[in-house]
Amino acid sequence: MVIFIMRIVVIVFMLIWIMVFIANKIPRKLPHKRKQWWVIAHILFVIVYFCGVTGQLVILLSTASFSKKESIHAGLEFIRYFDDYLTIPGAMGSLFTGIWIALRTNWGGLTTYYWIIAKWVGNIVAILLGSTITGNAVHNLFPKILSSDVEPSQNPLYHQSRQILFSGIGISLTILTFLVVISYLKPWGKRKKISSEANRKRNNPFSKSKQTE
Ligand code: HEM
Repeated sequence: MVIFIMRIVVIVFMLIWIMVFIANKIPRKLPHKRKQWWVIAHILFVIVYFCGVTGQLVILLSTASFSKKESIHAGLEFIRYFDDYLTIPGAMGSLFTGIWIALRTNWGGLTTYYWIIAKWVGNIVAILLGSTITGNAVHNLFPKILSSDVEPSQNPLYHQSRQILFSGIGISLTILTFLVVISYLKPWGKRKKISSEANRKRNNPFSKSKQTE
């Protein structure tokens, strides 16, 4: 499991590094119209992410009353489909469109504002927790349950995987809701070092560039 998490962390940070490298090569910021289209794409990925996680929760809740093996198997298959085709693409899409907007607009990159730092840290934590907790149940425990001859309702692994999924989905929904709230409130302002630097420049009549924000 640790190697699996390390692999995700390395891939995600390598992709972020490549995005920062490319963004630093592009002198001009995103024009307003094109920024709007990136924010639209960002919101669409966020919606897909939310649909994936809430869809898994609805199926999990509805399978609670199922007793027939075929129906429970169908429910587990649909939770896996939601994970593969909605939750994972939505999570990765939200992360990379959000990072690109932060890098290419007047938000000044990934470490200027606290709300943006909270967002990429929160998004990456949600991806890691989602892939370890929910991913473990969906891609490790479910196949064992589906291939077992024991009736799922009699199978302790089935009840264990339901508990794990509830906690994984609960954690993801809490983080996502927090990220939506701070996306609108944009709390905590700028990082101190950045704002004192800006003040020094602002108060120094000889400084070349003035903060344009
Ligand atoms: C699942 C995770 C995420 C959620 C739920 C989310 C949600 C949102 C929402 C609702 C908005 C619209 C806010 C507005 O209209 O004012 C937004 C905009 C934005 N998000 Fe995200 N976001 C996520 C991930 C990220 C990440 C990882 C970053 C990058 C660091 C990011 C950076 C931004 C930026 C820069 C904007 C544009 C703000 C503006 O100028 O209007 N987001 N996000």
